[in-house]
Amino acid sequence: MIPKECKRLAEVDFPVAEVSKHAAREKSIRHAHPSTLHLWWARRPLASSRAVLLALLWPDPCDPRCPEAFKAEARRRLPGVSINPGMTNEELRRALLRFIADFANWDVASHPAYLDVSRALVKVAHASVEGAPYEAPLVVDPFAGGGSIPLEALRVGCEAFASDLNPVACLILKVLLEDIPRHGPELAEDLRRLGAEITREVRAESSELYPKDNDGATPIAYIWARTVRCESPRCGAEIPLARSYWLCKKASRRRALRHRVVRAAGKLPQVEFEVFEPNAEEDVPGGTVTRAKATCLCCGTVLPPERVRTQLAAERGGADAVFDVQGQRVGGARMLAVVSLREGETGRHYRLPTERDYAAVRLAHDRVAAMLDEWERRGKQGLCPVPDESLPPIGTLGFRVQRYGMLRWGDLFTSRQKLALGGLGRAIARCGSPDAQEALGLVLGGVVDRNAVLATWRPQADQEKVEHVFARQALSMSWDFAEAVPTSQSTGSWDDRVRETSRTIEAFSLWNRDLALHGEVQEADAAEHPLPDETARVWFSDPPYYDAVPYADLADFFFVWLKRALPSAPLLRDPFDLSNPLTPKTREAVQDETKKDDGRPKDRAWFEGTMAKAFAEGRRVLHPDGVGSVVFAHKTTEGWEALLSGMIRGGWTITGSWPIATEMGSRLRARDSAALATSVHLICRPRPDDAGTGDWAGALRELPDRVGAWMDRLQGEGVRGADLVFACIGPALEIFSRFNRVETADGREVPLGEYLQKVWEVVGRAALAQVLGGAGANSRNGAAGTVEEDGRLTALFLWTLQSTDMDGGESAGAEVEDEGLADDDDDDDAPKRKVKGFILVYDVVRRFAQPLGIDLPAWEGRVIETKKGVVRLLPIAERAEQLFGEEGAQAVAARLEDETHVGPDALQGLLFPEIAAAPAIRGRRRGRTRNGAADVPDDAFAARREATTLDRIHAAMLLQAAGRTNGLRALLQAEQERGPDFLRLANALSALYPRGCEEKRLLDAMLVAVAR
Ligand SMILES: C[S@@+](CC[C@H](N)C(=O)[O-])C[C@H]1O[C@@H](n2cnc3c(N)ncnc32)[C@H](O)[C@@H]1O
Ligand SMILES: [Zn+2]
Repeated sequence: MIPKECKRLAEVDFPVAEVSKHAAREKSIRHAHPSTLHLWWARRPLASSRAVLLALLWPDPCDPRCPEAFKAEARRRLPGVSINPGMTNEELRRALLRFIADFANWDVASHPAYLDVSRALVKVAHASVEGAPYEAPLVVDPFAGGGSIPLEALRVGCEAFASDLNPVACLILKVLLEDIPRHGPELAEDLRRLGAEITREVRAESSELYPKDNDGATPIAYIWARTVRCESPRCGAEIPLARSYWLCKKASRRRALRHRVVRAAGKLPQVEFEVFEPNAEEDVPGGTVTRAKATCLCCGTVLPPERVRTQLAAERGGADAVFDVQGQRVGGARMLAVVSLREGETGRHYRLPTERDYAAVRLAHDRVAAMLDEWERRGKQGLCPVPDESLPPIGTLGFRVQRYGMLRWGDLFTSRQKLALGGLGRAIARCGSPDAQEALGLVLGGVVDRNAVLATWRPQADQEKVEHVFARQALSMSWDFAEAVPTSQSTGSWDDRVRETSRTIEAFSLWNRDLALHGEVQEADAAEHPLPDETARVWFSDPPYYDAVPYADLADFFFVWLKRALPSAPLLRDPFDLSNPLTPKTREAVQDETKKDDGRPKDRAWFEGTMAKAFAEGRRVLHPDGVGSVVFAHKTTEGWEALLSGMIRGGWTITGSWPIATEMGSRLRARDSAALATSVHLICRPRPDDAGTGDWAGALRELPDRVGAWMDRLQGEGVRGADLVFACIGPALEIFSRFNRVETADGREVPLGEYLQKVWEVVGRAALAQVLGGAGANSRNGAAGTVEEDGRLTALFLWTLQSTDMDGGESAGAEVEDEGLADDDDDDDAPKRKVKGFILVYDVVRRFAQPLGIDLPAWEGRVIETKKGVVRLLPIAERAEQLFGEEGAQAVAARLEDETHVGPDALQGLLFPEIAAAPAIRGRRRGRTRNGAADVPDDAFAARREATTLDRIHAAMLLQAAGRTNGLRALLQAEQERGPDFLRLANALSALYPRGCEEKRLLDAMLVAVAR
């Protein structure tokens, strides 16, 4: 047993860079990865979970209290995986970290040699006192979700207790942690056998619903477009809504649709399609709908978003075709194309729909109607055979479909899909074994994700297929959609999911086989944890974060089908409200004011209070000798403050923090700019009750060195920008959270917020010192020979923007081109203004600016622009007029070129007519709006503004852009006479701009001109 005082590895060191690399890579692994069992949102990579777990479980060999037996066993075992344990304790520590880094690689995660070493060392570290039987350490995760953490706990030989409030998560956890470890490969076999039985059953029931083609080809997907009617009085044609007419982009088999308009006397004009082979991208007509505006193909009239919405809402989203009594399709969704496969061929065929295809759809409508009639005749006993539960109200986070009339969960499925999913569900419900039933439930979830009217056709060259609904973490509108054939063998089919799931189960039984352990899963509220006091050895969790993911609302998408397929599964009821037809909402830890707990809207404070309770519960169930870890991946600093203070009040001491990259190079929504590429893993210990009171002055003295050393270390590992900032909170908190409270000399208790403000200041200063040298960091007011406020602001901004980049690839920075960015199918009515520039969350910018004497409002409109909580660094192009006036760079350059020699003083007037003419400091006035706190003396307004070093650099860049080499040369010469600031700042900025961006190119070209 490791003595309580002995440090764990995670408290002294961690292979950040290597584990990050493996964690980011893991996202691209699709086959036999446990995440393929069933979708869950925001899963943690297994790589980082595994690595952190080992570092929590293993003692640091350099600690004098480290058990000798552990060191001896490590020395004996490590050579088995080609790691030299060395002679000294330091070498052994490095060797253990090497192992942790290597083992984070998915390719060796089930390698017996690695498994043996990890388990043997966990065992020797946690062996009980002489004689007593060994008890594997218990790892507890109260927000277990898709189960990455408890799964890895089992892998390294621990016991795991996993709970989550959501029954869909619990179903995943149960299969993952209980069923698979218990039954191993037999479960895969059962699944295959039962899966095949179900296929037979369902095929027999539904053969007429998915008819084969006359030439023997089998349809595998139907591509549909919702439709609206043109409202031009002279037209009235049907408008098929489609984003794109591409069917297949494979070079050898390009296919797309094109249309022609057919006009016949006395009839409405009509659109007819044909499948053709385009030679180039331009041959394919553009879609008919962008941002909910529909363009008529017959007359060109544009139908505005409100009308599109109203028309679709009248048909509950319009995903079902509408037929008249003769069986003619008269509206609703229109089938655009049918994708089929021929026996013995792999390529897909694309054809237009036929009468037969529509006849099958009509049949599906009739069957659903009959089913509902029957249910009503029997007095609506039991569940409605199609999901009639309501969607959450309009405005619910992540939901964009209600305004199109999709108000019940059933509206997200065509009639044929309802029949198919319902049929699969009933077949599952009939089958005998409860464990296999749970696994079948997961298979069903995979089918549901690919058989809904929000699933689209993906024509991409790598593989054309039906894209699943949750390719995004939201339910957003799709105009055209693909209806898979669940009885086929292709993507989205039952057989396909059975194959994938059983393969995953098998792969995983490999490492599970010789393990007597399995996890325990319980549906529970983390704020009221079911375990008794002091039972866990490790408390490791990845909690939900404010309004980031509406888990419970999203999970209902699956839940409505699962509860019908698994009526007796104990995990599928809301234990807190048996009348609730959907997944538990009341106790879900989420910030969503449309929801209430005990009459109180679930606002920010409610969320924070709930998290504080969960942290306190964690402290309660953890053994006093145990260790904890919490994963945070957050973009604003406000959130940190409240959550951390909840942790500290809950009785925890922070003893370490490791930023691990989990995303790489992903484009982020503008709103999520400066979203972190890393998740910080905080390491924590239960704080002893007698931790006492700390001294504020002492804490402040300790802070700069601690943070400085930490920054150096992490930068060496490739951690950059905002990631680095957040990662510094850990070591800073180590100082603060050691004590029950921290007090000033006169006995005032210092709140965490005040301390964190100091932390920001220290981090910001260190950053500035690094990029600008002493000049930037020490000056508060831009005295002579130093860099002024705007230069510091720009440098800090760009510094914060730098992205953690483990592979040295393209820097991701948050450069935006369009505010609406990701939501291409979306219907935000406001026209999207094109904006350019780099953006950061206001909250982050403010934290730095204030303590470093940068008055943000003063630079509003001049260097930055703040809107909706996001700060944008103005691109130099947008500063041109401000700097050069209306006459522009060309005129200014011409004037410069006329002079034979320009001294620094003359330069000001020549360069900046606009600034020189300004009666006051423009930005200060304009910017005083935000908090009105621009503490500039009034007479400052009377003063003319001097062009700053940044202004002059930007001017030089603009001249460079305008190709005015001579003007630029004159300017640079004057700058050299003036002093070193210009070059110093220019070089600093050049190092900070993301690679490949236009401004860096200009700046570097300008710097080359200087060197000449
Ligand atoms: C960030 S996710 C966990 C993801 C997980 N680590 C994984 O790798 O898949 C947070 C989880 O907390 C759950 N949750 C939210 N409120 C809860 C509560 N009050 N009690 C327990 N779990 C809750 C959500 O259902 C969600 O699964
Ligand atoms: Zn028209």
